[in-house]
Amino acid sequence: MNQDTSNLIGLAEKYGTPLYVYDGELIRQRYRELHTFISWPKLRIYYAMKANANVRILKLLGKEGAGLDTVSPAEVLLGLRAGFAPERMLYTANNMTDGEIREVRKTGVLMNFESLVHLEKFGSMFPGSEVCVRLNPDVMAGYFDKIKTGGALTKFGILLQDIPQVLDIAQRHRLNIVGIHEHTGSGINNSDAVLQSMRNILDAIIPEAFPGLRFVDFGGGFGVPYKPDDRRIDYATFGRHITDIFSAFCRRYGKELELCFEPGKYIVAEAGTFLVQVNNLKDNRGRLIAGVNSGFPQLIRPMFYGAYHHMDNLSNPGGKRNVYDIVGNICETGDRFAEQRELPEIRIGDYLAIRNAGAYCYAMGGVYNLRPMPSEVIVENGKDRLARRGLTNSELVEQMMGESA
Ligand SMILES: Cc1ncc(COP(=O)(O)O)c(C=O)c1O
Repeated sequence: MNQDTSNLIGLAEKYGTPLYVYDGELIRQRYRELHTFISWPKLRIYYAMKANANVRILKLLGKEGAGLDTVSPAEVLLGLRAGFAPERMLYTANNMTDGEIREVRKTGVLMNFESLVHLEKFGSMFPGSEVCVRLNPDVMAGYFDKIKTGGALTKFGILLQDIPQVLDIAQRHRLNIVGIHEHTGSGINNSDAVLQSMRNILDAIIPEAFPGLRFVDFGGGFGVPYKPDDRRIDYATFGRHITDIFSAFCRRYGKELELCFEPGKYIVAEAGTFLVQVNNLKDNRGRLIAGVNSGFPQLIRPMFYGAYHHMDNLSNPGGKRNVYDIVGNICETGDRFAEQRELPEIRIGDYLAIRNAGAYCYAMGGVYNLRPMPSEVIVENGKDRLARRGLTNSELVEQMMGESA
């Protein structure tokens, strides 16, 4: 049994399962290595907190000097509570209401508008303000169709052909465009797509039309391997291309601007493991089905995107290998963490580790079937700490009772 396996079983026994476990050192390492890959002096990393908003992770990254990419008023408020100054956050939401615009504006966080309608609205509400504008890079990329955000089929960003209208709105309301933003998609394992987006955006920026720029933000999307045979991008080479493209632009622009990225998955995905315990086994005419004590609302990516999450049977790593469906405890047939997955023999009581569970797993969770979200633990320098306690059934019921309690 290796170190990782015995530690994880120890945590499962100490805290109970289901349980999310995060490796704080790996999160720090991933954050830091971005600065070695992309050697631009004014590089700013705005962690996309939608990937995982656990406050201990936010504080860890805050201490490292990260900024935050935020997408809702509550994310902004949580970021502030976690110690991030407003200047270190950017607000990039969709379909904002007037109330939301006012609420975020009050915090002092710079707002990024991705539609002409909302830019116009913001301009008339707050003329003379600083603003960022999200453009659509006209590149389709991302691991699943649902997480491709560029191109004409998606709801995100202002088309490059509409830049004259952006400038007209900015001029009429005296808006100072200090940032240009784009995000191509999530889980991009093809660096050419990101570089193409960069070129498309930068080619569209005429320096005289955007004289007040402080930064250009190219979003997140850096992919990480999920399947054993997924190839990790050569980030060192990718980083050099990024720097070359951006420095050529800055020479044309006449000023060294901030180069921003907003990775979420890259920083936290691999640092997370979701621990579940097997409590049921069936042999359905030869189809082996292993039932565990969690379900898709607690880790939805396999059901939602058909995403692959690697799994280990921690309790029986050397067992004879069989093919299983790993299913959850929710009343839906699609409630599967894995379908026809080869794993060492699974027995009742075995602990399974679901890997790469740091990004968009807890964060996309819910309490469908009224099963409370699990606890989260962070491990740093060999020490584990509860990062957030899951609610008990009674606490969840109290919440549900609300005003009628
Ligand atoms: C605007 C924006 N920035 C950053 C991200 C983070 O993407 P990822 O976690 O793939 O790096 C997203 C994710 O969808 C996003 O929409």
